Amino acid sequence: MINRFFSPEEMQAQKDCAASVRKIVTDRDIYSRPLRAHVMTLGCQQNEADSEKLEGMALEMGYTLTDTPEKADLILVNTCAIREHAEQRALSFIGNFKKLKAANPYLVVGVCGCMVSQEHRINDIKHKYPYVDFVFGTASLHRFPSLLYEALKKKKRVFFHSGEEDYLVAEGLPIHRNGKTHAWVSIMYGCNNFCSYCIVPYVRGRERSRRREDIVAEVRELVANGYKDITLLGQNVNSYGKDGQYGYDFADLLEELAQIDGDFYLRFMTSHPKDVTDKLIKVVTLYPKIAPHFHLPLQSGSDRVLRTMNRHYDMAKYLSTVEKLRALNPDITLTSDIIVGFPGETQEEFEETISALENIRFDMIYSFIYSARKGTPAAEMEDQIPREEQNRRYSRLLAVQQDISLAKNTPLVGRTERVLCDGISKNDPTVYCGRTPGNKIVFFAGDESMTDSFVNVKIDRAEAFALFGTVVKN
Ligand code: SAH
Ligand code: SF4
Ligand code: F3S
Repeated sequence: MINRFFSPEEMQAQKDCAASVRKIVTDRDIYSRPLRAHVMTLGCQQNEADSEKLEGMALEMGYTLTDTPEKADLILVNTCAIREHAEQRALSFIGNFKKLKAANPYLVVGVCGCMVSQEHRINDIKHKYPYVDFVFGTASLHRFPSLLYEALKKKKRVFFHSGEEDYLVAEGLPIHRNGKTHAWVSIMYGCNNFCSYCIVPYVRGRERSRRREDIVAEVRELVANGYKDITLLGQNVNSYGKDGQYGYDFADLLEELAQIDGDFYLRFMTSHPKDVTDKLIKVVTLYPKIAPHFHLPLQSGSDRVLRTMNRHYDMAKYLSTVEKLRALNPDITLTSDIIVGFPGETQEEFEETISALENIRFDMIYSFIYSARKGTPAAEMEDQIPREEQNRRYSRLLAVQQDISLAKNTPLVGRTERVLCDGISKNDPTVYCGRTPGNKIVFFAGDESMTDSFVNVKIDRAEAFALFGTVVKN
């Protein structure tokens, strides 16, 4: 069996480094006051989950946490590389730290995550951002203590380049969870699919799964601690266990987790349509603890485009999966990702995507304008679509989906939904908000006692992106 885990010795060495950093950070001869750390997260849930570990390690190293970069003595930016815009955002944040560094002599700045898992971006940081002290990629998350130690102790800049052999599983890192009811649980890392447009396989390495017993123990502990909404994470969760270590697949894992006692929902992200099995569909629709929501990225409604995207399914296969899901649960929430303006996408092929939306009727989609990623095959393809045309297709896609989302939400009016209340809405402080098991946002008049609990809400009104209702007696 391939050793897919960092060795206990390596993990212990990092713990020792964390203790050494703690000694420095809490030494009042060096620092006259307690030090604060700020972890800034860009990108997907996987990055959010990683950041909770980075925060856990920062606490272990003697820092307190702050939400405000201006108040921080350690800033770590956990970056994303999925589209050009994500990288530009990261670089512009990093650019702002120059003046913070000038104002705070204690400040140490680190950059980690997907963007700096690419050689050319490591070089950019090295040469254009001299106030960045240390850099490490996704494979080296657990090395945060040793790299920070080097930066602090030797007062030199540290650029850690991960090799292929570094893409392993790091078990046992401390986690500082940012929610009291929602929790992320990574079940696997990396991606083997190499969709032609996507940078993820290059910045997250090959697929490797965590041990089933480690996942089960983590979920049990979360449930015991009152977590009510647990999302299993992976770039392609359907590949869980496929590396053949356990004789055990994602459907088996989900089934085992769904039988843990307690009042909670399980969710999972993301599934690749090529790997959805009948067994998985059965498990997802059978257990009440598995939330009735399936996120299944379609990307395009054209078979030719799907082929050049290297997605390994066609519309017929995708539609048959949707049919099977809806046959077992007609109310299941179905969401998707769509890319518009992929190289060579003709007007007719774009119309095929529109027809697919009208035909499938997703509850919601995340839509993206294709962004060329350096090093991916699609970036080298001819017929890159001009920006104005991409924008035009994007607007049309959004308009079509808006009508569909509204039509999908409207029949919920009059129904009572079990909503997990997140508290006062960030956008409108006069209302409370939460999500249905099908992952739809609901706004309602509430009170503080409802925060972090399930409440029954009768839906009074539907919009395309939200529901509005009234709390009814449980
Ligand atoms: N592993 C997940 C997706 C991760 S990225 C999956 O395969 O479903 C999330 C979404 O970003 C993708 O589904 C895709 O729609 C979009 N995306 C990825 N690369 C992109 C690119 N180069 N340009 C635009 N959108 C992209
Ligand atoms: Fe990217 Fe495709 Fe892997 Fe998803 S499955 S992360 S889109 S390569
Ligand atoms: Fe971005 Fe990396 Fe996630 S590229 S979308 S943060 S896996």
